Amino acid sequence: MDKLVIRGGNPLLGTIRVSGAKNAALPCMAAALLTEEPVILENIPQVRDIQTTRNLLAAMGAEVELGYGRAQHRTTIQCKNLAAPEASYELVKTMRASTLVLGPLVARCGSARVSLPGGCAIGARPIDLHIKGLERLGAKITQDHGYVEASSPRLKGAEIVFDKITVTGTEDLLMAATLADGETVMQNCAREPEVADLADLLNKMGAKIEGAGTPTIRVQGVAKLHGARHRIIPDRIEAGTFIIAGALTGGDLNIANCEPSHLGALLRKLEETGVKTVTSGDSIRVMGDAPFRAADMVTEEYPGFPTDMQAQYMALATQAEGTSVVTENIFENRFMHAQELVRMGANIKIEGRRAIVRGKTPLSAAAVLASDLRASASLVLAALVADGETIIDRVYHLDRGYENIEEKLRGVGAQIRRIGEMIPPRNRRVTDRSAHGQTV
Ligand code: UD1
Repeated sequence: MDKLVIRGGNPLLGTIRVSGAKNAALPCMAAALLTEEPVILENIPQVRDIQTTRNLLAAMGAEVELGYGRAQHRTTIQCKNLAAPEASYELVKTMRASTLVLGPLVARCGSARVSLPGGCAIGARPIDLHIKGLERLGAKITQDHGYVEASSPRLKGAEIVFDKITVTGTEDLLMAATLADGETVMQNCAREPEVADLADLLNKMGAKIEGAGTPTIRVQGVAKLHGARHRIIPDRIEAGTFIIAGALTGGDLNIANCEPSHLGALLRKLEETGVKTVTSGDSIRVMGDAPFRAADMVTEEYPGFPTDMQAQYMALATQAEGTSVVTENIFENRFMHAQELVRMGANIKIEGRRAIVRGKTPLSAAAVLASDLRASASLVLAALVADGETIIDRVYHLDRGYENIEEKLRGVGAQIRRIGEMIPPRNRRVTDRSAHGQTV
């Protein structure tokens, strides 16, 4: 298992480029299931979740062609014959977003068999709303041996009201509705930019969708979709992570190739903490100018503050003067990074869905464990300002969603390197500060 070794203290200076959004690329790849013609996707990030989706689609009989060299961020997917409309537990357990194939498969093939995802590190992650929505569209659903099976010769348009806002749930049903017979009206939809990006692609494929990016989406079903070419939007979470990295390290960092309008809630919160940013076109310049001020933060559905930036924000809060109360409203168990930050010297107390962060506390290097994708990013940020050399274990979580993070950060001055498990660490001093941290 790879580890990252980071020596803190360097200000990040220069320009760092943001990759395509993993969370937009995943549903767009699943959308290729809706047509027998090729779908060409550009700005695909080279991350492990994308590889998992390629494997998933290939296992069903899709032809997935990868670009090489300068075209490495392009993929062409053609689902001419879908021999096995099935997503196995082996794949779904490593990536819950695999359930995104359920809607398109039943719409295109008339049947689908997809493993239930089960729990994950950040809490129970049910797919009841996907299932309920498909039933509203006329699918017959059975659950057996840990799998959900959906079947319907042709889905029928219907009104769907989500009990709770769900991002992949909205995307799954949106894809299903494109090939349904008649009109589907979906209410209380997720408004994330990734939903709108998927709708953009689907409309290019011949779908008739209005209102994506708002709470109400209307879909006029069509009999067939065709191939299309589409460029994936920039990754707002990767961009946000780099903005905090620039601020925390007292750097002067230009985050290029991003979409500032997708980062409103984060930029407003950072302004409250005293982080200076300047936006121009598709880039954001951040100038780290400590001291930062504590500011409470609450995660919400888009356009609120994203849960996927909560862990990174907490790293910043440890370096702000005063008490920040961080409230996690989307997932029930998304504070695992807090414990590791405490081992690096942070003062964080967890009370149910709230984390109380008292700053500013100096951070010092420790051996820490990444527990999920965004928690890993938070540890990278903390390590960039910690005194000494931090070793982050279980980096595979980070590799699920951040493309070449160490190369990108090294390019702007960070001291960061990756080591494989087999390479013995040499001449490294690691201070384990577990005794020094406060309780979580
Ligand atoms: C997506 C993102 C993830 C992000 C999350 C919230 C992708 C691939 N992943 O995940 O990075 O953290 O949105 O912004 O886009 N829920 C139910 N029943 C359901 C579905 C969801 O109760 O059928 C609950 C979940 O347990 C959670 C909440 O709804 O508490 C939001 O989850 P959801 O928006 O579905 O997250 P994902 O789409 O899985």
